[in-house]
Amino acid sequence: MKYYLLFGPPGAGKGTQAKLLVEKYNFHHVSTGDLLRKEIAKGSELGLKAKELIDAGNFVDDATVVGMIENEIAANPTVSGFLFDGFPRTVAQAEILDKMLQSKGQGVDKVISIIISDEMVFERISHRANIEGRKDDADPKTIQNRIDTYHAKTEPLIEYYKPQGKYNEICGVGTVEEIFQKIAQVL
Ligand code: AP5
Ligand code: MG
Repeated sequence: MKYYLLFGPPGAGKGTQAKLLVEKYNFHHVSTGDLLRKEIAKGSELGLKAKELIDAGNFVDDATVVGMIENEIAANPTVSGFLFDGFPRTVAQAEILDKMLQSKGQGVDKVISIIISDEMVFERISHRANIEGRKDDADPKTIQNRIDTYHAKTEPLIEYYKPQGKYNEICGVGTVEEIFQKIAQVL
């Protein structure tokens, strides 16, 4: 089983590229953000807890997202590989994922990091706010909090994966197709 991580700041294009990668490579795409939004839409207990945190641009607790990932892995034993989008997002999540995969004799294969500037994050997310209607896209303060949280909690993962030789950084500026070609080369 292969495990690939799509990494990057909010609005870097993780979801956009994941759709194309799934078509080409037949991976099982797991976006923790999408899974959480489904729980919110269902009005489940988990969704109710997550809503306030997400709408303010804060992270949901590690145990909740790890639980969702465990369920996805267990429910899809025959896929060729997993493409995680937006997970892990903290060093603690990465350590838990490593332990989880090591216990099966497996591990993360590659990290594909799509990097854009904070200014571009702002531009893309503000634009998407008019298209998708995500509440965490609507308020500039929330967007700034998501950017700050990315730098504080998620960026340290770069130094977690680099020494393992798994980190591949791609500049996220360019057309969707250009970025897709760069990711395909890494894969
Ligand atoms: P999540 O849904 O993962 O949001 P995110 O990381 O903030 O990323 P986005 O989905 O906003 O952006 P994206 O990189 O997918 O970009 P996209 O392709 O849409 O998480 C939401 C929340 O859930 C978190 O804030 C947190 O609260 C919670 N959460 C999720 N995972 C968690 C975890 N592991 N732990 C704790 N909490 C967690 O593209 C953005 C826009 O740009 C689109 O409009 C797109 O059309 C456009 N675009 C894409 N590519 C290009 C391009 N090349 N050129 C021009 N425009 C482009
Ligand atoms: Mg996304």
